[in-house]
Amino acid sequence: MAQIRNILILTGAGISAESGIRTFRASDGLWEDHRIEDVATPEGFARDPVLVHRFYDARRTGALAAQPNAAHLALARLEREWAQAARGSVTLVTQNVDDLHGRAGSKGLIHMHGELASAWCAACDARHRWMGTLIDAPACPACGKAALRPDIVWFGEMPYRMEEIYAALREADLFVSIGTSGAVYPAAGFVRAAREVGARCLELNLERSEGSRWFHETRLGMAGQLVPAWVEEMLG
Ligand code: APR
Repeated sequence: MAQIRNILILTGAGISAESGIRTFRASDGLWEDHRIEDVATPEGFARDPVLVHRFYDARRTGALAAQPNAAHLALARLEREWAQAARGSVTLVTQNVDDLHGRAGSKGLIHMHGELASAWCAACDARHRWMGTLIDAPACPACGKAALRPDIVWFGEMPYRMEEIYAALREADLFVSIGTSGAVYPAAGFVRAAREVGARCLELNLERSEGSRWFHETRLGMAGQLVPAWVEEMLG
């Protein structure tokens, strides 16, 4: 195998499952008993902002109470030790809106689907770290208007920092997908982009993802076990 320098890691809900945060596709397109189009689209928000705020306020509270697990911690260790040994880059892209990677110590982290711990003002475009609720229509600390919404990328909206992600993909020698079903684009297409540039592609997941056939290797099991073992292998 060619020498591995640059690593791009994509994570999804499965990496936070062992921290007690529910994954999405467990129950027929319903999220906590809501239809996706009601709570994860701009149209749903326009129709019923109170419902949408209540939904994300509850998820924010849940995420803040959760703790990073062995998989989050192992990825932070990989990033740290890979940099210390000047072996190349580790870029961590997450579809998760919880802050468990950050709290585990990951630094070069891209939240492509936004963050629960951030509020975005529809009036002045400012973003604010946000730990509280939004249902009570708080004023934007920048402009004073009550126009804050969850800083979450909903269906029909453009994921964040895509140019940076594709630039890192083009430089990647290894692409690793962890705890994602491969059902939602553009993240589901990263494996093919990585293959096109000749990167080795590894999948770590509880079950085969929808794009499983594109990976050179699949390891099935719990992220809390698979990820630390893989990191140990990389650093060993
Ligand atoms: N360890 C490893 N993998 C797990 C674990 C675990 N403990 N538990 C579940 N999984 C796997 C499941 O088998 C599934 O393949 O994690 C995957 C989770 O898939 P989804 O629930 O579809 O989550 P994700 O892929 O992150 O969804 C992508 O879709 O709904 C949108 O914006 C939302 O970011 C989300 C995106």
